[in-house]
Order: sequence, then C-alpha cells, then structure tokens
Amino acid sequence: MDRLQYVPMDLRDVLRTIRMNAKYALFLALVVVLVIIEKENKIISKVSDKLNLKQMPQNIFEINSTHSNIVYSENGSLLSLSELDSAFSQLRKQLVNVTLQLGGDNPFPADLPKMPRRHILLMATTRTGSSFVGEFFNQQGNIFYLFEPLWHIERTVSFESIGANAVASAIVYRDVLQQLLLCDLHILENFISPPPENHLTRFLFRRGSSKSLCEDPVCTPFVKKAFEKYHCKNRRCGPLNMTLAMEACLKKDHVAIKAVRIRQLEFLRTLVEEPRLDMRIIQLVRDPRAVLASRMVAFSGKYESWKKWALEGAAPIHEDEVQKLRGNCENIRLSAELGLSQPDWLRGRYMLMRYEDIARFPLEKAKEMYKFSGITLTPQVEEWIIKNTQASQDSSGIYSTQKNSSEQFEKWRFSIPFKLAQVVQDVCAPAMKVFGYKLANDVETLTNRSISLLEDKVNFWVT
Ligand SMILES: *[C@@H]1O[C@H](CO)[C@@H](O)[C@H](O)[C@H]1NC(C)=O
Ligand SMILES: *[C@@H]1O[C@H](CO)[C@@H](O)[C@H](O)[C@H]1NC(C)=O
Ligand SMILES: *[C@@H]1O[C@H](CO)[C@@H](O)[C@H](O)[C@H]1NC(C)=O
Ligand SMILES: *[C@@H]1O[C@H](CO)[C@@H](O)[C@H](O)[C@H]1NC(C)=O
Ligand SMILES: *[C@@H]1O[C@H](CO)[C@@H](O)[C@H](O)[C@H]1NC(C)=O
Ligand SMILES: *[C@@H]1O[C@H](CO)[C@@H](O)[C@H](O)[C@H]1NC(C)=O
Repeated sequence: MDRLQYVPMDLRDVLRTIRMNAKYALFLALVVVLVIIEKENKIISKVSDKLNLKQMPQNIFEINSTHSNIVYSENGSLLSLSELDSAFSQLRKQLVNVTLQLGGDNPFPADLPKMPRRHILLMATTRTGSSFVGEFFNQQGNIFYLFEPLWHIERTVSFESIGANAVASAIVYRDVLQQLLLCDLHILENFISPPPENHLTRFLFRRGSSKSLCEDPVCTPFVKKAFEKYHCKNRRCGPLNMTLAMEACLKKDHVAIKAVRIRQLEFLRTLVEEPRLDMRIIQLVRDPRAVLASRMVAFSGKYESWKKWALEGAAPIHEDEVQKLRGNCENIRLSAELGLSQPDWLRGRYMLMRYEDIARFPLEKAKEMYKFSGITLTPQVEEWIIKNTQASQDSSGIYSTQKNSSEQFEKWRFSIPFKLAQVVQDVCAPAMKVFGYKLANDVETLTNRSISLLEDKVNFWVT
C-alpha cells in the first residue's frame, strides 16, 4: 500500500502478465508508453501525431508482444504534464470510440437518469479512517460504492513516486478512476490477476466491502470449490461477473469510490472537468502523528527501525523514510491548499474533512458530506452510523458522541513515543498548521488528556 520503491520491469513481462483483452489493449499500450518514458528517459513527442487515429482499430490487434509500433521517441525532451495529458486524453476519447465500435457493452447509455447523478471520490491516505467514512456511502442503497479499486493497478503496474513516473501513475490512476465512475468496470479487468475469464473473477480486491457487489443480482448463486479471498461478508456468492456489476452500477443513482492512491488533487482536474461526471471530492485528513502511530501497529514490520530508534536509541531512522513522510504530508497539504483556494474548476466540488471531527460528530459530519454531495441521506445510513459509533441521542435531540469517541481518536497520544511524535512534527508542521493539529512540545503535553491538540476549525467546507 505504501510501496514507493521503483521496481524495474520488463515491458514484455507487463504484456505477459496482463493478458490482453482486445478492447483495452490500447489502454494497456498507453501504460506501456508511460513506463517506457521512464525507462528510456526520453519522451515521445506528439504521441497523438504518431498514432494515426484512423488506423487505430487495426493497430490494436497488431500489438502482440511488441510495442515498437506504438512508441516513437527520437529526441524527446521531457514534455510538460499538460502536453502529455492532452495527447493522452485524445487517445482516451478514441478508446471510447473504439470500444463502442468493437461492439462492447455500451457503458454510456444515452438515456440519462432523471435524478442528477453524482460521482463522489473519497480521497484519503492510509490509516485516516477512510474505510469507516467510506461506509457512510456504502450503506446507502442508491449509491454504487467501490472500495479501493486502484489497488489492482498498483499491484500490476509499478511506478516510482517521483519524476515522470509519478506523472505516469497519476494519469493511469485518474483515467481508470474516470472509467469506473462511469461504471465501465471492464477496464479494471486488465489489472486483475489472474485475469478474469468471460468477465468472471474471484479476485476482486475487497469485494466484500462493497455492498453493491454482494446484493442481488450481482451476487450469483454460490459455486462450491470456488475460493474467493475477498468474498462477501454476509452471504456466499458465485464469482463476480463484471458485466453484471457494471449493469448494477448503471442502475444505481450515484457512484462513490474510496481511494488512498491519489497523491495530488491537481491530477484530478480533467475528471472534474469531464462533462459526463458531476464530481464531488471529499479529502479526508488525519493528524499525521496518529497516522504514524496507527501504521506502526498495522504494518509493524516496516517500522521496526523507528521503534528501535525511539525506544532503544539504536541507529537513527533512515533519511529516506523521513523524506517519504515529508513527501506524504506535503502532498496532502498541497492538495488541501489547492482545494481550499477554490479555483474555478473546483468550486463547489471540493470538501475537506478531518477524521477527528468525524470521530467526534459522526452523524453531523455525515450529513454535511451528503449535503455537499447533493444526495439525501437515508434513515438506513443514519441507523448504521448510530449503531457503529454508539452515538446516543439525548433529550434535546442533539447527538452526543464526543466523550466516547474522543477516547478512541486520541488513543495514539499514549502509544506513540514522544521522540517519534517530534519527528512527525518536524517534517509535517506545515500540513499540521493548515489542518489545525497543535504541536506538543513535551511529553507531558502529548499525554495530558486535558490539553487538546486539535484546533477548532469550524468548517472547511467551502461552496
Ligand atoms: C502478431 O502475431 C501474428 C501471428 O501471431 C503475426 O502474424 C503478426 O506479424 C504479429 N504482428 C506483429 C506486429 O508482431
Ligand atoms: C531532433 O533530432 C534531430 C537529429 O537527430 C535534429 O536535427 C533535430 O533538430 C532535433 N529536434 C529537436 C526538437 O531537438
Ligand atoms: C467518436 O465517434 C463519433 C461518432 O461516431 C465522432 O463524432 C467523434 O468525432 C469520434 N471521436 C473521436 C475522438 O474520434
Ligand atoms: C455475466 O452477466 C452478463 C450480463 O447479465 C451475462 O450476459 C453473462 O452471461 C454473464 N456471464 C456469465 C459467465 O455468467
Ligand atoms: C460510550 O457510550 C455508550 C452509550 O452512550 C455507553 O454505554 C458507554 O458506557 C460509553 N463508553 C465509555 C467508555 O464512556
Ligand atoms: C494537564 O493540563 C492541565 C491544564 O493545562 C493542568 O492543569 C494539569 O495539571 C495537567 N496534568 C498533568 C498530569 O500534568
């Protein structure tokens, strides 16, 4: 999940690993193009010129095991993101056309639903409570919810987190996300391993976390023998039929996706500007000290050196690790600052949420998120929240969970060694300032429950 190392890959391996599906071979070719960009350290100039648009349908079938007919790079200097982006978006439009020409299931029906269809992205990082907040949308019957679909892309295609690779991965993530928001679930099949057969798969990551994939008719009769790792929780279903899931998605009123792999809000611009989408982006943040404390429990192996350093004074933490932490905090801060600055393209489409506020006032915050999304929150969701947060309603009708959840959300203060809290504060101070997380200058402050480390930020929600 937090793999940031570059794993060199052989292009032929990519092609071998991801079994080709003619419809999406072109998309895959683009991935390959982007990987090559890094590999050759050159950039295709005018990708779009080189790919004769009219010949595209034939070309698709010619991509066997060679990429030589796709990549032309003579003396490319690094193109800007926008140039690369525009080449890519042209190709994407073409891909949609090709898909339609090939007689695939049309993922974009002409008859639009009467209700304004909303597309919600819950943008977070790991250990920020995003699974919990995702449930707010998963529990609502008229929303098609997907849990971390980009996991499959990360597993299949490796990108470095800096330089041209960061751009490449961002573009791939974004474009897959766009197709998924449009209910084109077939796009994901290219990245599922082992590859689905006849659109059937038993390997969709965390299928069970998506109610829409576990209800009728997507839940087909259970087939014995068919082991499914991420099976549905409350019932056993047959292998997932991606076409059936796609049809279910189209029938729902709205689509919501949770993703922890989008590094920068800026990369989502074309998604927001896409006319077929009515995007609402909710960025979820959490105190980075709490995130580290939580990660040290969840991925304890990775943090051995941190623990040793903090508790036994062993060799200092590797500078790379610290830089990684700094990079994460900066990405989160830059995204939030961009969102809060309300550029025209994001107006009314961006909301910032702190996990700590949701933990203290879950129902109130859920209502705010739904209002922002333009969707009516159903009693079903309300009940789920009350049940799962032990919220209790006092006689005045005000929901009060504060005392109860504050114990939960501040637990980290007593588990994190102060030395580590200091490291986080050192590198994440700018982000913490933006979000209203107060620094603790000594261990007494850190562990004194009557000192709040949370500034009251009344509302980040800007319209
Ligand atoms: C693709 O494969 C077919 C047969 O497998 C072969 O005839 C054709 O030349 C190949 N095309 C390319 C571009 O390699
Ligand atoms: C590309 O390379 C050719 C020769 O290899 C050179 O003549 C040409 O000026 C170069 N173009 C650019 C834009 O650098
Ligand atoms: C896609 O197809 C439509 C009609 O078939 C055409 O009008 C449009 O120009 C095509 N778009 C691209 C990018 O080729
Ligand atoms: C998957 O669902 C589609 C759409 O309902 C159906 O046409 C197809 O036969 C199903 N595939 C399998 C293998 O059952
Ligand atoms: C949390 O709230 C519930 C319901 O109001 C209550 O039963 C429980 O005792 C509280 N827990 C703590 C630790 O205060
Ligand atoms: C915790 O902080 C409060 C308020 O600053 C202070 O009155 C109290 O003495 C502190 N408790 C401890 C154990 O230091």
